[in-house]
Amino acid sequence: GKGNYRHFMEKELHEHPAVLGDTLRQYLDPKTLEVRLPRLPFDPVRVPRLTISACGSAFLAGMVGRYWIEQLARLPVDADVASEFRYRDPPLPEGGAAILVSQSGETADNMAALRLLREAGQKVLSVVNVPESSMARESDGALLTVAGPEIGVASTKAFTAQLAVLACLAIGFGRARRELSTLDEGRLTQALLEVPGHAAAILERDEQIKTLAAEVAKARDVLFLGRGSLYPIALEGALKLKEISYIHAEGYAAGEMKHGPIALIDREVPVIALCPSGPLFEKTASNLQEAAARGGRIMAFTDAEGAGPLSRFAERVIEMPHAGDFAAPILYAIPVQLLAYHVAVLKGTDVDQPRNLAKSVTVE
Ligand code: M6R
Repeated sequence: GKGNYRHFMEKELHEHPAVLGDTLRQYLDPKTLEVRLPRLPFDPVRVPRLTISACGSAFLAGMVGRYWIEQLARLPVDADVASEFRYRDPPLPEGGAAILVSQSGETADNMAALRLLREAGQKVLSVVNVPESSMARESDGALLTVAGPEIGVASTKAFTAQLAVLACLAIGFGRARRELSTLDEGRLTQALLEVPGHAAAILERDEQIKTLAAEVAKARDVLFLGRGSLYPIALEGALKLKEISYIHAEGYAAGEMKHGPIALIDREVPVIALCPSGPLFEKTASNLQEAAARGGRIMAFTDAEGAGPLSRFAERVIEMPHAGDFAAPILYAIPVQLLAYHVAVLKGTDVDQPRNLAKSVTVE
């Protein structure tokens, strides 16, 4: 049941710390600070490139996975939505491998991608939440997310659990390919081990996010901006908002603003910025400043370090725990989900069962 929560989605949002802890404990050793992966169906040292295929939020998790794997393991990754991948007839390398991401493990387009990949001789590893699902059974190997049943149609804890597994995979590949030292591995796993605690701290920002939601609920259109691994999280924020509040939202790579979407900017369009401090901060901040100069209302999520510079032009700054670059996408996914939740509640929509949507999309 829902316990003391109004909706399954709210309950599931509050399970983030526990689910992240459970999932991370499955794939990394807190004592030695090492990633511990089960036997994989392919050797990350030998594969020439990886394909990632998924749908919806699971695809956005895969997109973050792509950034991580390319950065930490220097392994080229192609990420695509399953419905495009399967008809694109892409050239697949000999000895290649794929990662499929899915909560349900039953999504029709991704099941078709799975069969196509295996027929093309690719080894398929799936990251799934339902152990007895078709995808888990038909893949060459499966890594489970330990999210428990997710009832709300909008994916929340399953999404962050997917990120947690992909983060461990990226570290494991990096180690295997000798791109990461033991020291690097220790630093990265340490950052992941701090994620559940930070997630709990973010859930305590609920009141602040409710205040932001009251503003967003009045808007007709909303823009989400992020750069690097926060770009897929901007897309996820927009997807969640559309899905459950029916407000039109778009996610953009911050650097793409000036190539079109900046024409939309006026006082009516809230711009939700995901902008943690780090190597990409300056660039994103300057994109946001350009939007602010055109009357854009910047609502920024950042950490203590980013708060000072952003508050010079942002209408609202919500301070997040300082988590470092690597773990940031996992943590910044939480407030955008919370935001969508509160906006939907204010709008009075059916949060757990949004119109026209099914939890598991078993038609193509
Ligand atoms: O079960 P799957 O993870 O394969 O589902 C994929 C998408 O249908 C799913 O993530 C969808 O986008 C969610 N409703 C988003 O919240």
